[in-house]
Amino acid sequence: MSKGFDPKDAYFKRAKSEGYRARSAFKLSEILSSQPLIRKGWTVLDLGAAPGGFLQVLAEKVGPRGHVVGVDLKKIDGLSHAGTVTLVGDVEDDSLVDELKRLHSQYDAVFSDMAPATTGSMATDAARSHRLVERALYISSKVLRPGGVFVAKAFMGPGFDEMVQDIRRSFASVKIARPKATRSRSKECFLVGKSYRPLALEDSV
Ligand SMILES: C[S@@+](CC[C@H](N)C(=O)[O-])C[C@H]1O[C@@H](n2cnc3c(N)ncnc32)[C@H](O)[C@@H]1O
Repeated sequence: MSKGFDPKDAYFKRAKSEGYRARSAFKLSEILSSQPLIRKGWTVLDLGAAPGGFLQVLAEKVGPRGHVVGVDLKKIDGLSHAGTVTLVGDVEDDSLVDELKRLHSQYDAVFSDMAPATTGSMATDAARSHRLVERALYISSKVLRPGGVFVAKAFMGPGFDEMVQDIRRSFASVKIARPKATRSRSKECFLVGKSYRPLALEDSV
């Protein structure tokens, strides 16, 4: 473990004491508190959702009439919000889109906190992260409603600026957020796209 890295830092302890499954819940809470991205009653998709910290925050935000769908390679159990459904799935698998559409014909917002297995090589890790963002964007092109919201974690590194430019073609506004709960040594940030413009997206990646 590298110097200065504390896996049980203040956010980890706060997550435990407030009943959140992961410290990442605070990253999403901060992004959503600085801008009202989602509303009560919305249907939202969370890609890379295990163990479920984002799902807990999203369930609070959409409320009892809203719907949250979480997807991850790993199984997620035991969430209490009646409108939350979880699927085991890989964003690289095109049949996931059909499964998502069977649950809801359209989604108001798509979130992705997906992270690749890291190698320690900044270029490789960034490329793997960008591929996951690309897949989240592709899935959004199939399920996100016009005007919808897209929030995706991305590692900064080679190719980052080009990826942001690509996302800008599909959303009226794209901002970069780096919540306080993000570890200082981390290369991650969140791309926040508003007002989805469907016609601009390519058909496949
Ligand atoms: C940082 S964790 C997500 C934490 C989650 N947002 C939370 O708040 O609990 C990243 C997740 O991305 C998932 N992931 C990575 N590649 C994926 C893929 N191809 N398809 C689906 N999920 C993936 C991993 O399994 C892992 O659970």
